[in-house]
Amino acid sequence: MTLSSSSRDGFSSRLGIIAAAAGSAIGLGNIWKFPYITGEYGGAAFILVYLICIALIGLPIMLSEFIIGRKAQKNAIGAFKDEAPGTQWALTGVLGLTTAFIILSFYSVVAGWTLHYVGLSVTGSFKTAATADLGGQFGAFIANPWLPIFWQAVFMALTVAVVFGGVKNGIERYSKILMPLLLVILVILAVRSMTLEGASEGIRFLFQPDFSKLNIDAVLAAMGHAFFSLSLGMGTMITYGSYIGKQENLGSTALQVSVADTVIALIAGLAIFPAVFAFSIEPSSGPGLVFITLPNVFSQMAFGSFFAVLFFALLAVAALTSAISILEVVVAYLDEEFGWSRKKSTLIVAISITIVGAILSQGNGAWGGLKLPFLLGGEWKSMNIFDWFVTLSDQLLPIGGFFIAIFVGWKLGDKAVLDELSNGGRLKIGYFKVLKVVLRFIAPLAIAFVFLSSIFGFFA
Ligand code: PHE
Repeated sequence: MTLSSSSRDGFSSRLGIIAAAAGSAIGLGNIWKFPYITGEYGGAAFILVYLICIALIGLPIMLSEFIIGRKAQKNAIGAFKDEAPGTQWALTGVLGLTTAFIILSFYSVVAGWTLHYVGLSVTGSFKTAATADLGGQFGAFIANPWLPIFWQAVFMALTVAVVFGGVKNGIERYSKILMPLLLVILVILAVRSMTLEGASEGIRFLFQPDFSKLNIDAVLAAMGHAFFSLSLGMGTMITYGSYIGKQENLGSTALQVSVADTVIALIAGLAIFPAVFAFSIEPSSGPGLVFITLPNVFSQMAFGSFFAVLFFALLAVAALTSAISILEVVVAYLDEEFGWSRKKSTLIVAISITIVGAILSQGNGAWGGLKLPFLLGGEWKSMNIFDWFVTLSDQLLPIGGFFIAIFVGWKLGDKAVLDELSNGGRLKIGYFKVLKVVLRFIAPLAIAFVFLSSIFGFFA
C-alpha cells in the first residue's frame, strides 16, 4: 500500500520537527558513546577530527537525507525506488534497514543499562561506594546473564508503546518536553564536575590536542561516530524528512539539529572528563565509563540521589526518542511497502531485535570468550560479539552515507535539489554550488579514503 502524501502522518509544527529530529540525534551516542570513545582515542585531537566530520560530512548528508525524504514522501527504501525507478539504488535503503536492525539490537541493551541505573539510584545503592566498587558493580551487572536482558526487554516494550502511537502523538510529544530538561541536568552536572578538585586535567584532556595520539582507527571512529550521533547513513533522516512539511526550511533544520547534537556531546564531555581525572578513573575504561564516573559525581553533590535518578531517567528517555527513530525506519517500510499494520510491523521487528540484543548482551558476560575477527587498521582484531556489532555499525553508516551523498550530488538532479532547498522558491546560488561540490566530491572521497585506509591500514 502506498499512502498519498495528504494522508501521511506528519509533524505538526516547526518545533515539533526539530524536537523529533534532535530527539533522534541526541541519545546514548552523545552521553554514553562519545565520552567513552573520546577517552579511548585520547581526547582533544579526536574531538577535533569529530567536529570536522560533523561539519564537512555529517551536516551535508543530513540535509541530503531530508531532501530525499521530503521529495519522495516515502520510507527509506521506497524513496529510492520512486526517485530512481528501475535502478539498484533501492539497495541503499536495504542497507539502511539492515543497519537499523543491527544498531537497535545493541542500542536497546545499553538503554536497558540506564534503566537499571535508575533503579540503583532510587535505592541509593551507589551512594557510598568507592570508585573501584562502582567499576566492579558495573562489570558484574553487565556480565549477569539475566538482568541486562530483563531491562533491555523493558526498554523495547517502552519503545514499542511509543511507536504504536504514530509520529505525531508518539514521537513528537515526548521529544518536545524532555530534551530541554536533559540539557539542564547535563549543565548542572558539568558545573559540579568542573568544580571538583583535580578537574582541570580533564578540561585539558578535552581541549588540548595531542596529535601524536591520532591514528587511522581514531579517524574512522570519529567519522563513524559523526554518522551515529547525527542518526545518518541508514535512512532515519530520510524517513523523518518525509514527515516534514513543504514549507519548512531544510537547511536551517539540519543546521540546528547538528549544532544541538554537538553541543550536547560536548557538555556530556565536560560533565564526565573532569570527574574522570578527579577520581583517577582510567579514561579508556570503555563502555562503562559513564556508568562508573557519574555515580562518583552524584556522591559529591547536594541532592545527589535526586540528580542521579533524574539523570539516568532522562538518559533513558533520550535513548527512547532515538530508538523510536531507528525502529521507525523499518516500520515505515513494512507499513508502506507491504501494507502491514503499524502494530504488526512494530511488534514483529521489536521482538526480533530484542532476541538479537539479548544474544549480544551475553558477549559482555557468559559468552565473553567468544571472539569474532574484525579487520581494523590493516589488522585482524578479535572482539566479543557485543563490541563487534558496535564497531560494525561505525562502518555501515558511512557506507550508507557515501551512497546518499552520491545520490543527491549526482543522481537526483539540480532542479529537484534546488526545489527542496528553496521550497520551490529562490535560493542563494553560492550555497547550492558549495553543497553540490561537497556532495559530489568532498564527502564521498573523504568517506572512501578513511574507510579504505582503515581497512587496509595505509597509515596504521
Ligand atoms: N543518534 C542516536 C544517538 O546518538 C543513535 C542513532 C543512530 C539513532 C542511528 C538513529 C540512527 O544516540
